[in-house]
This record gives sequence, structure tokens and C-alpha cells, in this order.
Amino acid sequence: MHAKKMRLIRSIKEIRKLTATLKQRGKRIGFVPTMGYLHAGHLSLARRSKQECDVTVMSIFVNPLQFGPKEDFKKYPRDLKKDLKTAKEAGVDYILFPTDKQMYPQGYLTEVCVDKITKTLCGAARPGHFKGVTTVVAKLFNIVGPDIGYFGQKDAQQAVVIKRMVRDLNMPLKIKVLPIVRESGGLAMSSRNRYLERQERQDALILYRALQKARDMVKRGERNSRRIIVEMRKLIKKVDSAKIDYIRIVDAKDLSEKKKISGRALIALAVFIGKVRLIDNLILKV
Ligand code: PAF
Repeated sequence: MHAKKMRLIRSIKEIRKLTATLKQRGKRIGFVPTMGYLHAGHLSLARRSKQECDVTVMSIFVNPLQFGPKEDFKKYPRDLKKDLKTAKEAGVDYILFPTDKQMYPQGYLTEVCVDKITKTLCGAARPGHFKGVTTVVAKLFNIVGPDIGYFGQKDAQQAVVIKRMVRDLNMPLKIKVLPIVRESGGLAMSSRNRYLERQERQDALILYRALQKARDMVKRGERNSRRIIVEMRKLIKKVDSAKIDYIRIVDAKDLSEKKKISGRALIALAVFIGKVRLIDNLILKV
């Protein structure tokens, strides 16, 4: 049997017309927004959408609005040809690949901003980042009109922020957050892993090891967040190339600080390995 053909759509008008027609016919639309350079994490989202929905739309758009002036927008990895092949294999039906100009035409003035929960964790080191994310995701939701939007748990704060935006702005879709996909050593899949040199790739495993350390401590009965963070710091500091941005233990739903571990706690960290900033996290249910 031949696999169904995947279509690459560059025009916002065209994808909008298409999804509107599909919805009129009662089709359920799953949507996977990405910035491309697809890896197994993205594919797990596409595959889930394929299982749960009639049609899967994936967007590939490196969103300039979510990069700071000193960040890696220009050198962010891009490989459309390979992405198209990978997405097709995962069963994606439509790829939306708009230009910057289409997404942000001259005179563009409107932004979507979720307050408070965007100021902590990654938001503290990357001011404006989440405003860029919510703006583009809100636009993409408006363009595609999906029934379900799929996101990865790797960007834990992003997932919390998007859920809040959808709730606060009464957006008519469901958000599903799927587990982190890891390489064999435990490194969380990320398009930015490609920046890591060979030794740095080894060093980067320290993020996952620190999370495992935290999990073991909680298993053995430790509930004091500060003590857990101290041990995680000690471990990470043993790696010369590692520089900690933050390690925090927060409520998994609203990102508020948790001094004692209880309920659903999110242990999140951001660590530079050399020049590459990596994030990882773990949710513990106590
Ligand atoms: O997670 C990402 O890749 C991006 O932040 C997203 C959700 C595609 C918005 O640009």
C-alpha cells in the first residue's frame, strides 16, 4: 500500500481554507507546531496526533519573535528537505511552512502575553521569549484551527504557559503534553543538541544524572527542596564545562516555588554546557 501524500503548504490562506473544509466535513485536526530540524521528540507528537486525529498538520517556522537579540535565531539549525522526509514517515498530512513576512507583515503590532508564570525559570534569563512563543502559537492556532495541539514536556514551562493562554483566552482546542524523548544516555532530545561538540555531549548527560539524583533522594524520603537542589548543584559542578543557570523545584501546574516536595512537583533546570544552554526536567508525584 502506498503511503498517503504529504503536502507542503506555504500560504496561510491556503492552509486556512483547507482546514476549514476538513472541519466542515467533521474531521478532527491534530496540530504539531515546530521550529523544524525534527527529532524523535517531534515525531512522537506527530505519531500521537496521527493516532488520535483524522488529519495531522505540522508547522515548521523558526519564529524570530521568541529569540533574544543575542540568541541563535540566525544560526538555528534548518533542514527543510530532511524534515519533509521525516515528517512524511511519521504520517504528517500537511506541513505549514510560512515565511517571516507572512507571519509578521510590515506594521505588525499585536502580541499575546501571559503574565507572571513567564517571568520565572527560563523567562528570567530570556526576557520576551515566552511572549514570542505565545504570540506565534496563538497565531498558528488561529490559522490552523486544530482540535488538539501537541507539545513536548521537555519545554515544561512553555507547556504550562500555552495551557494557560488557551484557558485564559477561551481558545477552542485541547492541549496535550507528551513525555520527554531521550537519547540512549539520557540526554533529552533537542534541536540545539547539534551545537554540542563530542566531549560536550558526554558532559551534557549531567543534566539527566542530576534529575535522577533528585528522584532517588525523593524516593528515599527527602522532601526538602533546598537540600535536593544543593546535591544537584554539587553533582553538576563536577563537570568543568557546565555552568548552572537555574535549578528550581516548583508546582507542576502553576510554577510556584515549592519549599517542600508534595503533590506534582516539577524539578526543572537550565545548564550551559560550554556555550550551549540546555534544559531538562522531571515531574515527581508525591
Ligand atoms: O517548542 C518550539 O519548538 C517552539 O517554541 C514553538 C512551540 C514551535 C513555537 O515557535
